[in-house]
Amino acid sequence: MISKKTFYVTTPIYYVNDIPHIGHAYTTIAADILARHNRLKGNEVFFLTGTDEHGQKVDKAAKEKGMSAKEHADIMVENFKSLWEKANVSNDAFIRTTDSEHIKTVQGLLQMLFDRGEIEKRSYAGWYCVPDERFWTAKDLIEGNCPDCGRPVEHIMEENYFFLMSKYQEQLIKYIETNPEYILPETRKNEVLGFLKNNTLGDLCISRPKQRLTWGITLPFDDNFVTYVWFDALVNYYSVTLYLTPNSGHQTPSSKWWPAEHHIIGKDILTTHAVYWSTMLIALNLPLPNNIFAHGWWTVDGKKMSKSIGNVIDPNEIADKYGVDAFRYFLFREVPFGLDGDFSEDALIRRINTDLANDLGNLLSRFLTMAEKYFEGKIDLNVFIDNEFAKHCIAMSENIYKEEYWARLQFNLILENIWSVIGEANNYTQRKEPWKLAKSNLDELKTVMFSIWNALRLTALSIYPFMPDTAEKIWKQIGLRSLTDETKENQTVFNWSWKPAYEIKISKGEQLFPRIDIKQMTEDRTQKTGKKLLEEEKQKMIPGVKELIAIDDFAKIELRVGRVISAENVEKSEKLLKLKIDIGIEERQIVAGIAKTYIPDDLIGKKIVVVTNLKPAKLMGIESHGMLLAATDEEGRLSVLTLDREVKQGARVK
Ligand code: ME8
Repeated sequence: MISKKTFYVTTPIYYVNDIPHIGHAYTTIAADILARHNRLKGNEVFFLTGTDEHGQKVDKAAKEKGMSAKEHADIMVENFKSLWEKANVSNDAFIRTTDSEHIKTVQGLLQMLFDRGEIEKRSYAGWYCVPDERFWTAKDLIEGNCPDCGRPVEHIMEENYFFLMSKYQEQLIKYIETNPEYILPETRKNEVLGFLKNNTLGDLCISRPKQRLTWGITLPFDDNFVTYVWFDALVNYYSVTLYLTPNSGHQTPSSKWWPAEHHIIGKDILTTHAVYWSTMLIALNLPLPNNIFAHGWWTVDGKKMSKSIGNVIDPNEIADKYGVDAFRYFLFREVPFGLDGDFSEDALIRRINTDLANDLGNLLSRFLTMAEKYFEGKIDLNVFIDNEFAKHCIAMSENIYKEEYWARLQFNLILENIWSVIGEANNYTQRKEPWKLAKSNLDELKTVMFSIWNALRLTALSIYPFMPDTAEKIWKQIGLRSLTDETKENQTVFNWSWKPAYEIKISKGEQLFPRIDIKQMTEDRTQKTGKKLLEEEKQKMIPGVKELIAIDDFAKIELRVGRVISAENVEKSEKLLKLKIDIGIEERQIVAGIAKTYIPDDLIGKKIVVVTNLKPAKLMGIESHGMLLAATDEEGRLSVLTLDREVKQGARVK
């Protein structure tokens, strides 16, 4: 009997301040592999991914592009959705933290905790890292910078609401110790336990005052505050079970879909999940997920991916160039899931040429050619089986579907076992010398062909979670109908002894994985470097504004040299300065968001560059007639453009 169980798997919800790269693809494809495996095994699956859209970081990215945070999120979210489509990611739902139902759930849970005395208002001083959306204490900092990402932090003092996380420290330690599978891999579990046992857990700041950040969910018990990013983001895993799961709506907390089986995340957000989320759930009296799996980090040619180095790998580009399935395979074969890995196109090409073109591709094409040549494409399934070969394949198959491998996400071991079947099938073909049997023993040749056919069939099934398109292609080329349909409600398909109820005639198709000429590819890459740099420049822009502009477009912008006559802070704003600027022909009032980097006295008398033909705008109720030019670096520090020799105010800048 088929044991149908529910299987709920999640990815992190990704920030919409940037476009997705291979790291995001990695986590999401891992979840996809689990989802597809479970569907094939007859389980009822819910696979969730989505986007994290509130918070300072996202707000800042939107402002830099001159948009509202929601407008910006609406555009950026498409980058994720289109990548998941391209990468064959079969998510059942996509949550956005701006969904009204999610917002309602967050507010409901906050109110519940507040009513129970689990949330308290306190005044607070700390060091805040905007990119990580996290507070640090002075002793956490490394040379004055964020200990996590190394970027500068801001000192902030304000009243905020705190979730009283500290009181759950002992309970959480016990939970992790008695549930050894709760945090995986083992090394990550030990890291969390080490942290919890050697430190006194603090309480968790969950709010931001609205005067500093409005782009968030308003606290239900104090509308001067919004909730701080993690309380909003982590709740997504649960809130979705109340409105996006099949047949959801008005469900009680004991929903069919909660708790999740796996939260798959990167090691960067282990603490927020293993500590914040776990204690939030304990306080809410909700069951904890069965497992949090924190995988390792991809670097590129040994370096951390970073926009400033320009080595961020676009998964769209890799998938277009090498094929989605080759990309998916590489990610999970190259590095054991859990460890860090280094991405290089050369390593990917090597995997394609050896594992995919040589081993798998050749096995299939040899088989198809022989079937055509010796039996006009027909495979006789009513012949003897080669017992020795069958034994090996069955044993490998048992390994491939080992509960332990799947529960612990040991994808590389699963793939090794699949390739052992492929390797054995290639050896077997070689050993049996079918070209000789064709002349001497047609009966034995039929046995050989049926045995290889069966090995290919089981291989198609087992690679399906990793390479769904390739699996379907093999399935059809060896004469079967539809892999996903034929496995539905019929788990015997996984047995060596399964046979279809119809005749098998192979249908040779395109070559699965043509070999790649590594030398040629490297030359092409070198030639393309210039083009790539341009592409990278384009990537820094938002989608939809990707085209280059003509000189006439640029000429529409009137830029002039201006001299700053006066400058003052704008009341109630930490960011804005009000400036009077002499632009030669007249005096202009401009409001500029530079107060975090400049005090008024820094600017008076300076010659700067001003956009003078901009439509007037109002900022905090003050009219601004133009805009000054300033550069922003990755850390958000500004540098106002000045001139390197004396030029009269009013001069055109072109
Ligand atoms: O942290 N290697 O979102 P995010 C491997 N919104 N994986 C990587 C990676 C790399 N180099 N870079 C990113 C957030 N990832 C929060 C999450 S969840 C309730 C809120 C993957 O857009 C990895 O899964 O910064 C990592 O955890 C995630 O992207 C971070 O995505």
